[in-house]
Amino acid sequence: MCGIVGYAGRRPSAAAAEQVKSHEHGALDVVMEGLRRLEYRGYDSAGVAVLTDNGIDSRKKSGKLANLTAELAAAPLPEATTGIGHTRWATHGGPTDENAHPHLADDGRLALIHNGIIENFAELKAELLDAGAVFLSETDTEVAAALLALIYRGEGGGDLALSMQLACRRLEGAFTLLAIHADSPDVVVAARRNSPLVVGLGDGENFLGSDVSGFIDFTRRAVELGQDQIVTITPESVEITDFYGNPATGTEFEVNWDAAAAEKGGYPSFMEKEINDQPQAVGDTLLGRSDVEGRLTLDELRIDPEELKAINKIMVLACGTSAYAGQVAKYAIEHWCRIPVEVELSHEFRYRDPIVDNHTLIVAISQSGETMDTLMAVRYAKEQGAKVLAICNTNGSTIPRESDAVLYTHAGPEIAVASTKAFLAQITAAYLLGLYLAQLRGDKFQGEIKDLLTDLAKVPAKIQQVLDNSGQIKELAELMADTKSVLFLGRHVGFPVAMEGALKLKELAYIHAEGFAAGELKHGPIALIEEGQPVFVVVPSPRGRDSLHAKVVSNIQEIRARGAKTIVIAEEGDDAVKAYAEHVFYVPETPPLLAPLLTTVPLQIFACALATAKGYDVDQPRNLAKSVTVE
Ligand code: F6R
Repeated sequence: MCGIVGYAGRRPSAAAAEQVKSHEHGALDVVMEGLRRLEYRGYDSAGVAVLTDNGIDSRKKSGKLANLTAELAAAPLPEATTGIGHTRWATHGGPTDENAHPHLADDGRLALIHNGIIENFAELKAELLDAGAVFLSETDTEVAAALLALIYRGEGGGDLALSMQLACRRLEGAFTLLAIHADSPDVVVAARRNSPLVVGLGDGENFLGSDVSGFIDFTRRAVELGQDQIVTITPESVEITDFYGNPATGTEFEVNWDAAAAEKGGYPSFMEKEINDQPQAVGDTLLGRSDVEGRLTLDELRIDPEELKAINKIMVLACGTSAYAGQVAKYAIEHWCRIPVEVELSHEFRYRDPIVDNHTLIVAISQSGETMDTLMAVRYAKEQGAKVLAICNTNGSTIPRESDAVLYTHAGPEIAVASTKAFLAQITAAYLLGLYLAQLRGDKFQGEIKDLLTDLAKVPAKIQQVLDNSGQIKELAELMADTKSVLFLGRHVGFPVAMEGALKLKELAYIHAEGFAAGELKHGPIALIEEGQPVFVVVPSPRGRDSLHAKVVSNIQEIRARGAKTIVIAEEGDDAVKAYAEHVFYVPETPPLLAPLLTTVPLQIFACALATAKGYDVDQPRNLAKSVTVE
């Protein structure tokens, strides 16, 4: 959702630094750099506010950050050492200049930015209108700003931190709020409930960010805040309390990646870089998690192995791409462990009456660790007594923090909004979990576990092979730039891969795309096939389950007979598909259950290349946001 940055320090502005030959930049430069890194969280508008000797000055603009940069060039802000910045994914009110943050109150002496949704905003707005407040936007944020200003002038007694505490007690929903006030030089006050906020610790300066990329250029020391906490930063101090002013503490951690990891590294887009990062993402996720004897060593899990042995059901909760990783996990875990696995979209689980108890293991898969639907589902499952294990890519985020155990994927920062490398890393982590559970449950599979670990270790090099041979699929994507609709078919683990292929194409190229289980074709979707309809088919290995390969080859023949243009992803050496395919893309051999780590890659490359050919921004597709922190 929205990206938030705050800074309190002493850096001179870029222009002033130039004069004294310093590399240090002022508050505005720090905030703008943070926004640049956080823009993936939302790009409907952006805005900044700085504290100067003359009070607060701000600029905001609808559209991408580049529009704000142009606005700042046309109407520069004065030099400042304290500032806040926001990049928005619109919820209440469209993506206009008026609805952009910061929102000002207290006659322009207070500026506030917000990520989340304030659920009782209508009721508060009515109350504030009665008290004489005037609103210029349609946002819930402006209501929070007006409430904070009213409290500041009243029971808050001109104390910004106290006023924030009192205001937060009246707010319902999810929010990260950052405020500055003209009467409090050098101070930024922030609050969080159900929405992310991290503090960056510097020397003579401190930072706030929705995540560490908001300040990664300046410090790697970070503090993750707990639920319902307020933090006040100045250049010299960081003070944390709860909403009642009681002292509280956050958890300090060191960020283990540097700014370069979040750069494009010579690729034209983050999406291309991240697709090409996949051998490393999978390799790093496997690293250090098994010993030389071929045994899994997941000591990092904090759940007692005896409790894990006693589970009789697994439920995977996730959304979007992460849910497709969960579907791959189901095939593998059920086969290896003989434990029933259900996969459910977090938002569906949350609002029905699911049957979970203390013998159920919830596996919550989330790249960001902040997806509100999944977070709420996790809380709901915990209330029912279930144990929760998170598979997550973001250190210090909320979902792993609230889970009983966490298995981190080590994909590194994923900046492009549509997920690629995190997906493969999630599948890898799920395999490790499945093999670990199989290991805990007895020696029956020990030989198989060892072999599978050896096969997994070979996967990064095989992904690299797919990447090295991507020229042909890119050419096809360019030729298909005008296509209106593409279908994707798969069976077994190829089914979630087909759905992920369709999702990538929808997200990046805005093309109608649908993924189907190939066996379902004859039950309806085959009616969609007409002359020239492109259909991708993810073909299972001929070495896999009896007759599965033959069934999919028959499916290809059925659609081909009805005019479909068939594009096949198959295992090297599978000559049987050639006769029925207009195009075949081969991936290296691997055990059938591990195949999604390879078969997904051509589909990602196809979607990225087709969207690029259409001239679209593959890193920031329209209407999307990286972390969906609203329900
Ligand atoms: C698609 C995509 C989304 C996310 C989903 C869950 O490319 O990125 O579908 O997978 O919003 O996000 P996380 O994994 O952060 O919970």
